[in-house]
Amino acid sequence: MNFELTEEHLMIQKAARDFANNELLPGVIERDENATYPAEQMKKMADLGFLGMMVDPKYNGGGMDTISYVIAMEEISKIDSSCSVAMSVNNSLVCWGLERYGTEEQKQKYLTKLATGEYLGAFCLSEPEAGSDATQQRTTAIESGDHYILNGTKNWITNGGAADIFLVIAQTHPEKRHKGINVFIVDCNWPGVTVAAKERKMGIRASYTNSILFNDVKVPRENRIGEDGFGFSFAMKTLSGGRIGIASQALGIASGAYELSLAYSKERTAFGKPISKHQAIAFKLADMATEIEAARMLVYHAAWLKDEGQNFDLASSMAKLFASEVAMKTTVEAVQVHGGYGYTKEYHVERLMRDAKITQIYEGTSEIQRIVISRAILSD
Ligand code: CAA
Repeated sequence: MNFELTEEHLMIQKAARDFANNELLPGVIERDENATYPAEQMKKMADLGFLGMMVDPKYNGGGMDTISYVIAMEEISKIDSSCSVAMSVNNSLVCWGLERYGTEEQKQKYLTKLATGEYLGAFCLSEPEAGSDATQQRTTAIESGDHYILNGTKNWITNGGAADIFLVIAQTHPEKRHKGINVFIVDCNWPGVTVAAKERKMGIRASYTNSILFNDVKVPRENRIGEDGFGFSFAMKTLSGGRIGIASQALGIASGAYELSLAYSKERTAFGKPISKHQAIAFKLADMATEIEAARMLVYHAAWLKDEGQNFDLASSMAKLFASEVAMKTTVEAVQVHGGYGYTKEYHVERLMRDAKITQIYEGTSEIQRIVISRAILSD
């Protein structure tokens, strides 16, 4: 068993860390405060290859492994989770699904542009009445000649306001329940596609989260991904990989809060010595460091299983569950270590605390992860 990162992994880590410190840190407080989409920063991320890291170079991707991707996600999430969620959705939910299950024609037409960031993608599964209970899709795609006619509303769509391409999950044969669900590649410019207002959120405020409305949208048959009825399975398989992305985001948020707390605790004095010399603070730091390391092991293990071509459904749910709970706990403690300063915007930890919360909710809540994990460990 080798726990060492390769030279290539270390280079990617440094590139992502430098990018986050030089390009994302300046302005991150203002973008959060004003809920300003990081358009310029996303363009730079695309130029550096962070939006299609794992895609085969023949489709313009970086051809990297999942470990490289989670390393980059961690570094970027230490500073700006509005950027890292956009990165995660494009890499794991859109590019991966398209590369794994799309036709050669679909890959040439869409993946080659999504991998470079020329296009940004969004994944449209959740609906007003189908969040955790994802089989209850109300959006319909009814066959009509060589097209499908798409109607419905999707909620909580990350990248919604900036996306060029939507992967839309819809019910084609309602009588077949989840076996009648399909997934379609939908262009944002097609008639009948409307991006509704951006949500006003607690955290990841600079990222786009929108409802998307589909009204009699004509989707060519060749834009369906996979065999008829493959859509729900596609969503589940893709989300398994997505959860590794969100787990690495949570890991980054926790690591960022820990690093800030460590530095602050050495500088800040109270009762005649740095607060790090007080056991009350030192023990908080010890717990943070230990739990973050445990989260990192789970995240890397899930990524490794995926790279090895093994089943990673259970590992990705465990990684997401644990890392997101660690992110929440660590950031709350980080604010406490910073005292009154931690409660202000300038010290970053209050933003990390707000950003941490969503990692326990999106791409499957902590409760959903416990369903997936308990079913796996209890199955015969
Ligand atoms: N891979 C392939 N197929 C899978 C699967 C997997 N990992 N997990 C389940 N399935 C299949 C099952 O085998 C079953 O198919 P068969 O009947 O053919 O065997 C089918 O899916 C239904 O499975 P279940 O009976 O287990 O369905 P369920 O309704 O009891 O529960 C669930 C399934 C795991 C709870 C699922 O609904 C789920 O994951 N819900 C959470 C959805 C979610 O994560 N939403 C996040 C939205 S996306 C988002 O947040 C993106 C963003 O923008 C950031």
